[in-house]
Amino acid sequence: MQSIPVMLISNDEVSRSELKSDLEKFKYIDIVGEFNDLIQGFNSVINEKPSLVFIDVSSSPSVALDAIEKINFQLRTCIVFAISSDTDPEFIIQIMRSGAREVFAKPVSQAEVSNALDKAKHLLQTNTDGFTEGKIFTVFSNKGGIGKTTIATNLAVSLAELTNKKVALVDLNLQLGDVTTFLDLSPSYDIAYIVTQISRIDESFLIKTLEKYQEKELYVLADPPYLEQAEEITSEQIGTVLNALKSVFSYIVIDTSSAFDSKTISALDLSDDILLVSIVNLPSIRNAQRCLDLFERLDYPKEKVKMVVNRYIENEEITVDDVEDALNHNVYWKIPNNYFTVMSAINRGMPICEINKESNVNDSFFGLAAGLSNSLYVKDNEQAASNSGNSLLGNLFSKITPPKK
Ligand SMILES: Nc1ncnc2c1ncn2[C@@H]1O[C@H](COP(=O)(O)OP(=O)(O)OP(=O)(O)O)[C@@H](O)[C@H]1O
Ligand SMILES: [Mg+2]
Repeated sequence: MQSIPVMLISNDEVSRSELKSDLEKFKYIDIVGEFNDLIQGFNSVINEKPSLVFIDVSSSPSVALDAIEKINFQLRTCIVFAISSDTDPEFIIQIMRSGAREVFAKPVSQAEVSNALDKAKHLLQTNTDGFTEGKIFTVFSNKGGIGKTTIATNLAVSLAELTNKKVALVDLNLQLGDVTTFLDLSPSYDIAYIVTQISRIDESFLIKTLEKYQEKELYVLADPPYLEQAEEITSEQIGTVLNALKSVFSYIVIDTSSAFDSKTISALDLSDDILLVSIVNLPSIRNAQRCLDLFERLDYPKEKVKMVVNRYIENEEITVDDVEDALNHNVYWKIPNNYFTVMSAINRGMPICEINKESNVNDSFFGLAAGLSNSLYVKDNEQAASNSGNSLLGNLFSKITPPKK
């Protein structure tokens, strides 16, 4: 099971340290922040987006309730549990209305902590948080042939499988798109058609016109078949289509060309996360540096840009640390080099999970999808692995390092 990042906010040091030691008994809990100051804690929650927050509302109830409301509004997948010394039913109702999933009276017992975690796991797994706006993940590199389409396609499939929510996969490589080849689809409609129907775009139109992939909650928006159609599409139209997708799909994964044109920039602007793909060699790292420079000039926050190292091989001459030092940017994810599995997926027009579910590269895509969607990825053979005493997380996933401050 992937670890659940948790933050604790309470100025009651005794209660906080008791809660902390209770939580630490659960191996999958990762306490990523502990604050006695409410405002400081709130700011860290917004910046670091943990999956679960415990907030003690006892000392400044109105500020705490306001913080809970804002966390709920800004971070739709974050679960907040409140702790209160005041157990007046009216007040408990007020706390629940602010968006806390559960309220615990102080002192919180070990059994309550355990129940709370069960509830949190369930909520994170089923994502019953109701729909707000979809998140856009754009896979980009200014270098060709680096794995953008492989990553976009398999990430979209993994997101759909893992979250069971609606996922749109958009091929913005308008002139040389490969997504339909990678998934062996012959869609009836494409993006050139959709932009001519802007006034008709609503949920039922999008569900009908995007090509559904098998039985999965994955819908593909293909590139146009003719080059001249691609040229007619404007960056404003792309913005309109992406905004419409956000109101219907929980996740939108965009595959791009290697060009920094206005259409790509329109997608990058609207993205929640940019997955900047590089491989571990000097030309690729230099190109990634150029992208990072441009993103800085575009005023993108550093945490919006997530470096993904593709075709990663252990013990290479250039290490991931070298890449991070050279770019002054953390590597968010590593995808192993697995030529045989990736090539056979591409050649058969199938996602990697259908070619080899057990492969390291499939694990990596599910781990990436879990990280980006704040979901849990529990591998089928987890029980067996944990019984054998292995460090499951260490073995199954590439490590996600927190952004450098
Ligand atoms: N993790 C991986 N392991 C092994 N081979 C990989 C991996 N990822 C991608 N490849 C190989 O790299 C090649 C290029 O991949 P892909 O088409 O996804 O790149 P791209 O960046 O989308 O290219 P383009 O710029 O042409 O759109 C493919 O042949 C694929 O087999
Ligand atoms: Mg491609």
